Amino acid sequence: MTVGFVSIIGAGPGDPDLWTVRAARRIAEADVVFYDALTDAAGLVGRTSARCFSVGKRAGERGVCQQTIHELLIRTARRGKHVVRLKSGDPFVFGRGAEESIALAAAGIPFEVIPGVSTAIGAPALAGIPVTHRGVASGLLVVSGHRPEILRGVLSGVRPGRLTVVVLMGIARRRDVVASLVECGWALETPTAIVTAAATTAQEVWTGRLDTLISAECGLLPGVIVVGDVVGVREIVGRFAGQTAATVGVRHGGS
Ligand SMILES: C[S@@+](CC[C@H](N)C(=O)[O-])C[C@H]1O[C@@H](n2cnc3c(N)ncnc32)[C@H](O)[C@@H]1O
Repeated sequence: MTVGFVSIIGAGPGDPDLWTVRAARRIAEADVVFYDALTDAAGLVGRTSARCFSVGKRAGERGVCQQTIHELLIRTARRGKHVVRLKSGDPFVFGRGAEESIALAAAGIPFEVIPGVSTAIGAPALAGIPVTHRGVASGLLVVSGHRPEILRGVLSGVRPGRLTVVVLMGIARRRDVVASLVECGWALETPTAIVTAAATTAQEVWTGRLDTLISAECGLLPGVIVVGDVVGVREIVGRFAGQTAATVGVRHGGS
């Protein structure tokens, strides 16, 4: 029996420029790509001759269910194909990459996992927010805002202070996110940011305080919430975010 292979790949926040070299190589070589809603489908054009299928869903939408995705991966690999499963950020950070790995292992399909730049650190970095700036934050807590009761349980286990909290899937649940943080001792004036559509041309950054997070205008694009004093560092570092050697006029090899 021919057995194919599955590469579970993290695509990073958006721009294919942030794919790892290994990810780009596997995508180029693949026969079939199944990609998520938050990966940049346009970025696949010209980078692979694989057949590409969207299997993603955005928050609140109906999409292909997880069990069907497992079956698609297994069935396609069993036809001897090299399958790429492309996910936003890192596959193992709130990405269901583990569920897919477990399903493949149970089916006896060989696979690999290629890490990607998680939006939990990539989105703040692109906005000029260093999540563990020395002397300001000595820890990072990455949580999902999707289920408020779980969020509260996680937050109640840590003391507010020299810690940065990054909330994924929390934009639509900002009221609950703020309530949970305040209940767990976070001050209303804690510096807070939202980075939406990071690494895309639509990237936007809002900064304020925890108590103004609820009223922040940030649209419907996917975004991360960053809570902690490191947000203040953006005043210095953020001024340079988005620049490249080319945009400031540096000529490579120049003297
Ligand atoms: C299902 S989680 C996937 C997380 C992903 N595995 C990671 O490591 O970043 C989806 C959440 O990732 C965040 N996200 C994804 N793409 C983003 C982007 N380009 N900019 C900001 N946040 C993004 C949002 O919080 C979104 O609700």
